[in-house]
Amino acid sequence: MMAVEYRESDSVSAEFDVMENRPLLSVEGISKLYAPGKGCQDISFDLYPGEVLGIVGESGSGKSTLLRVLSGRETPDAGKIHYLSQFAKDLSLYDLSESHRRRLLRTEWGVVHQHPMDGLRPRVSAGGNIGERLMAVGYRHYDDIRNTALKWLRDVEIPADRVDDMPVTFSGGMQQRLQIARNLVTHPRLVFMDEPTGGLDVSVQARLLDLIRNLVTDLGLSVVIVTHDLAVARLLAHRLVVMKESRIVESGLTDQVLDDPQHPYTQLLVSSVLQG
Ligand SMILES: Nc1ncnc2c1ncn2[C@@H]1O[C@H](COP(=O)(O)OP(=O)(O)OP(=O)(O)O)[C@@H](O)[C@H]1O
Ligand SMILES: [Mg+2]
Repeated sequence: MMAVEYRESDSVSAEFDVMENRPLLSVEGISKLYAPGKGCQDISFDLYPGEVLGIVGESGSGKSTLLRVLSGRETPDAGKIHYLSQFAKDLSLYDLSESHRRRLLRTEWGVVHQHPMDGLRPRVSAGGNIGERLMAVGYRHYDDIRNTALKWLRDVEIPADRVDDMPVTFSGGMQQRLQIARNLVTHPRLVFMDEPTGGLDVSVQARLLDLIRNLVTDLGLSVVIVTHDLAVARLLAHRLVVMKESRIVESGLTDQVLDDPQHPYTQLLVSSVLQG
């Protein structure tokens, strides 16, 4: 048996008990502005273990900016983000060193980009793309890596005989499924997704959504997912935050927000989907 060797701290596992009721991610007054109204400002929310949070809003409202800040890839101008790491260690994200943040990204977190090639290595085979992540968390034995990669290819419905092919030879849907496998193979606790079904045909989208939904449930993942597609939000997210011009204008349980929107902007968003 191959154990994951990565250890964030030596903290005792007794602290696990406490974790259940504490947010995995706690966001307090985050702002990152490139220009007035461009970016995100005054963003606060909690994400609990096993929860899927959707971020919706029109193009330019700041969704991707917020996701980059949340996932440690863009330093905010103001605010705090606390992450409850493995072994219940409370980390203040931007008080950590950059290398520590990068380590979290490789180990406890995953990031699924809208354009799959942004999250894949073009000159590395499909199996290698998955294996690389395993090595980052301590896998060393070729057979373990190969077999785990093959299992994950099967899980995301990529034929095993494509394992040695380069991702550029894959269709967009297959690339996206490979990116998902690369991210989930290490069993991250928290996954950030930015429009994961964005550039795909409708039928490919539907299958991918189904796959994501099953994986999220099976692995008990916590997810922050950005989408401007309310149908995607409805299918995947427990809770939603609605963004407009860099701010959250409404938040709540997904069904509540979509069935009974309170803010005029959310009402517009929902009704334009119904008419469209
Ligand atoms: N690196 C940057 N430098 C300057 N301005 C930026 C930068 N990144 C984003 N912006 C601006 O900030 C605003 C929010 O952009 P962001 O990409 O976060 O929006 P979004 O909600 O993800 O939009 P979309 O749905 O089109 O992806 C936009 O006006 C954008 O032009
Ligand atoms: Mg975006």
